[in-house]
Amino acid sequence: MCGIVGYIGKRQALPIGLAGLETLEYRGYDSAGFAICNPGRVTLVKQVGYVQQLKDKIENQNIAGNLCILHTRWATHGTPNEVNAHPHHDCAGRVYLVHNGIIENYKELKNYLGQRGHAFISETDTEVMPHLIEELLKDENDFKTALFNALKMIEGTYAFAIINKEDPHTLYAARLSSPLVIGVGNEENFLASDPSALIESTRKVIYLKDGEVAEMTKDSIVITDLDQRPTPLKVEQLEWTLEQAQKGNFPHFMLKEIFEGPEVVKAAIQGRLKPREHLVKLGGLELAQKRLNAMRRLIILACGTSYYAGLVGEYIFEEIAGIPTEVHFASEFRYREEPFEPGTVALAISQSGETADTLAALRKAKKAGLLTLGLVNVVGSTIARETDAGVYNHAGPEIGVASTKAFLSQLTTLILMALYVSKKRGAFHTALMQELMEIPKKIQSILDASEQIQQLAATYATHSNFLFLGRRYNYPVALEGALKLKEISYIHAEGYGAGEMKHGPIAMVGPDFPTIAVVPSNSVSDKMYSNIQEIKARRGPMIAVATEGDEHISSLADHVLYIPKTLEPLEPLLSIVPLQLFAYYMGTKRGYNVDRPRNLAKSVTVE
Ligand code: M6R
Repeated sequence: MCGIVGYIGKRQALPIGLAGLETLEYRGYDSAGFAICNPGRVTLVKQVGYVQQLKDKIENQNIAGNLCILHTRWATHGTPNEVNAHPHHDCAGRVYLVHNGIIENYKELKNYLGQRGHAFISETDTEVMPHLIEELLKDENDFKTALFNALKMIEGTYAFAIINKEDPHTLYAARLSSPLVIGVGNEENFLASDPSALIESTRKVIYLKDGEVAEMTKDSIVITDLDQRPTPLKVEQLEWTLEQAQKGNFPHFMLKEIFEGPEVVKAAIQGRLKPREHLVKLGGLELAQKRLNAMRRLIILACGTSYYAGLVGEYIFEEIAGIPTEVHFASEFRYREEPFEPGTVALAISQSGETADTLAALRKAKKAGLLTLGLVNVVGSTIARETDAGVYNHAGPEIGVASTKAFLSQLTTLILMALYVSKKRGAFHTALMQELMEIPKKIQSILDASEQIQQLAATYATHSNFLFLGRRYNYPVALEGALKLKEISYIHAEGYGAGEMKHGPIAMVGPDFPTIAVVPSNSVSDKMYSNIQEIKARRGPMIAVATEGDEHISSLADHVLYIPKTLEPLEPLLSIVPLQLFAYYMGTKRGYNVDRPRNLAKSVTVE
């Protein structure tokens, strides 16, 4: 979704700001802009399209200034065009700001301000804010007071970066339910909606909390609540490295991140899994030990790929820990009228830790008095901070819009969590712990054979429809495989539980409608073979993801992608990898920019 960058300091602001904005491109956007302040003058430039086009527009211009705010916009209110792009400003050209979030009462405010002579030029909700500040400045000629009063009048969600032309030494920022992080420098300070934009400049960060306002100069940062009461500064260290946020030798972040699979599994288990001692150590859950001991039911809340990881988690928690588990789309859970039994625990899964629906679902669970846990990748994100206890993925920044390595990391961590809470310890649990240690090597062997998948994608690149089938642990893998293909190659793909296939989807099957069956050798493979035969009988092309050594499958399927043998609960960690690679190669073969798929945003911070 939209991205914000800000800079105030000793250096020229624009090159630093634009570099930060480029690192946010992965989040998805349709236009970009900036406002740069030089004493007495603000230069405003906006452009539809990519940051590179914005840079081309100002080529050979010397735009100086030490204070700058920049934005990438993912349209919500009003079409993507230059007028609607941020920054927005007031009538007099004194107040400039960029905004993430939605001002819900903008229509009322626009009416009120219109009656008081303000002229609006855009269709956005954001534009009311600079005009509101301008209006309040008429009564109270103090910028700060006007800003704080305006913040109190707006309803909705926001992350703002704000410039007052008459004060070229101060950058203001405010946050409510939309992330903002301050980067602390030496005679310079930075602002961004996503920590990845700061990695190149500083590792010292301060996460703004809801209802906080920051007043930043090059040498100082003051944070207050909306009543201007100061809050203490908590400077934290960013763990991510610059290398993690760069493509290296890979053509796309998506491919790099798929190839990071073995590393992210290792990072998730490192220091946590101790098979010899039959132990899993998760410091973040110890905080909630007493209430976890009383857990009788688990509800998992998530969206998109994290939801599919949650579906695998349902099987994992039930089989490994014996805990009844159910998974909800966060967007549905938030509007349900569901009674909760005592001992119910809610687990929010989110790579970004900022997904609006997951956050709202989590808040609902919290309000109902449930113990709330988080499984989050981005350290310091809102979901991570609002849960009672939790576990980080430590997968490093995921830049590709299509979630790949985070999924593997989520699956690994869910197994650890289930082992951690399980009161049972039998041979099965020991075997799982030992086998989990082998998974990185096994993923690597699939990656080493990626060329076969590339060739397969070349064969199927012109097809317009795919069916993905799986059972038990591999049913969510089928759903996730279909989602990946849709997102990256814009091919219609349906994921189904293989047993459900004859209840409808089989009507679509025919020579032009290939099926990908996820059929490792396990407790349900015989059932899968029958489903595959039903499809073959209708002349549907068949690609199977199967276990090495399965000779029967080659007589059933047209193409087989082999994965190493593992224990059934761990199969998704292997079976998803060929599907991620298949989606990647299909997307690139069809000529799409797989790192920035159309209409999608990396972090969905609106409902
Ligand atoms: O950051 P989150 O894990 O909360 O994001 C959830 C979904 O928005 C995300 O997984 C989305 O579905 C991805 N585009 C999947 O590739």
